[in-house]
Amino acid sequence: MAEQNREKDNREIETGKEAEKEVILEVKDVKKWFPGAVKSKEFIKAVDGVSLSIKKGETFGLVGESGCGKSTLARLILSLYKATAGDVYFHGKPIYKMNARQLREVRREMQVIFQDPYEALDPYLTIEEIIMEPLDIHQYGTKQEKREKVEEMCNLVGLPVNLLTRMPHQLSGGQRQRVNIARSLALNPEFVICDEAVSALDVSVQAQILNLLRHLQKELGLTYLFISHNLSVVKYISDTIGVMYFGHLVEVAPKNELFAAVKHPYTHALLSAVPLPDPDYQVNTGALTGDVPSLLNPPSGCIFHERCPYKQERCEREAPVLERVSDCHQVACHRYKELTLKLDYSSGFGKGGEGR
Ligand SMILES: Nc1ncnc2c1ncn2[C@@H]1O[C@H](COP(=O)(O)OP(=O)(O)OP(=O)(O)O)[C@@H](O)[C@H]1O
Ligand code: SF4
Ligand SMILES: [Mg+2]
Repeated sequence: MAEQNREKDNREIETGKEAEKEVILEVKDVKKWFPGAVKSKEFIKAVDGVSLSIKKGETFGLVGESGCGKSTLARLILSLYKATAGDVYFHGKPIYKMNARQLREVRREMQVIFQDPYEALDPYLTIEEIIMEPLDIHQYGTKQEKREKVEEMCNLVGLPVNLLTRMPHQLSGGQRQRVNIARSLALNPEFVICDEAVSALDVSVQAQILNLLRHLQKELGLTYLFISHNLSVVKYISDTIGVMYFGHLVEVAPKNELFAAVKHPYTHALLSAVPLPDPDYQVNTGALTGDVPSLLNPPSGCIFHERCPYKQERCEREAPVLERVSDCHQVACHRYKELTLKLDYSSGFGKGGEGR
């Protein structure tokens, strides 16, 4: 029955009726302030009021510099951290208000794939035991059914079954990430958070794993939150991109719209500074300058004002809120209506290596 529902869901996704797609995850004004190490009244505002929603079957790419709060947000969504404020809704149900049994059910539907496949795998277990572990935890079927499920998962992720008796250190990085993916998908989750899932892999292996994730999404109707500091990777896999800057979401838009009509100065700087493999999107201008803000003592007003070439006096005292530019494009900048931010596609970046 679950499989039939999933197939039906897949067909709905393929019709491309954007408006009819169900929002499966909603994050509302979520905050996570960690206590500062030195002064008791100081807080590290790792996530400071983030709201977003993710539709069924889509990939929401979350991009931002190291330390901007991406993994903290992932942990808040998975309810692995207690939020300082805000709510997370899965299928409209507030997960922070759930009891242990309800949370256990939701956790089955929400899985995570982490960055380093080696660290994520128990070195003392065989590959079969590793993939079987979540099936054991959630009391899935008989021993024989579990074995069949593990083999099914191997076939799904392109992992030869003769590796099942091996230990993690005997596998390559790409094979280990396939094990990680097989393990995460063993319980047929609906929503998967990929937190820097390909960052530790060689570039050629990255491409294989990204293609596998895309294939699995189509096959199983998965919804992804894909987190990376690598814009090229996020651009390749995402439908919608959210740009995070030190605890805040500063711009959210469908991928193509973001590249065609960027609105936030930080997004502009980010897109301008990063080499992209797609020849349609070669850019060579701009780079981020200035100091990154301290999360212990963030600047007043707009969190980006100390690095923003367009700041005005108002930016230093008033924090902009994320507002709608159009149905699906949101930006947090006082001046987005006056600014015309363009990416320079003409530079032949790939030839000279300028802008890298
Ligand atoms: N458990 C914790 N206690 C205190 N501070 C923390 C904790 N976890 C994260 N932080 C701080 O919160 C901020 C955001 O960290 P986070 O790991 O979410 O960033 P990130 O965007 O995932 O970075 P990266 O790209 O390097 O993975 C950082 O300044 C980090 O030092
Ligand atoms: S609000 Fe002001 S400082 Fe912030 S991004 Fe916009 S122009 Fe720059
Ligand atoms: Mg992280």
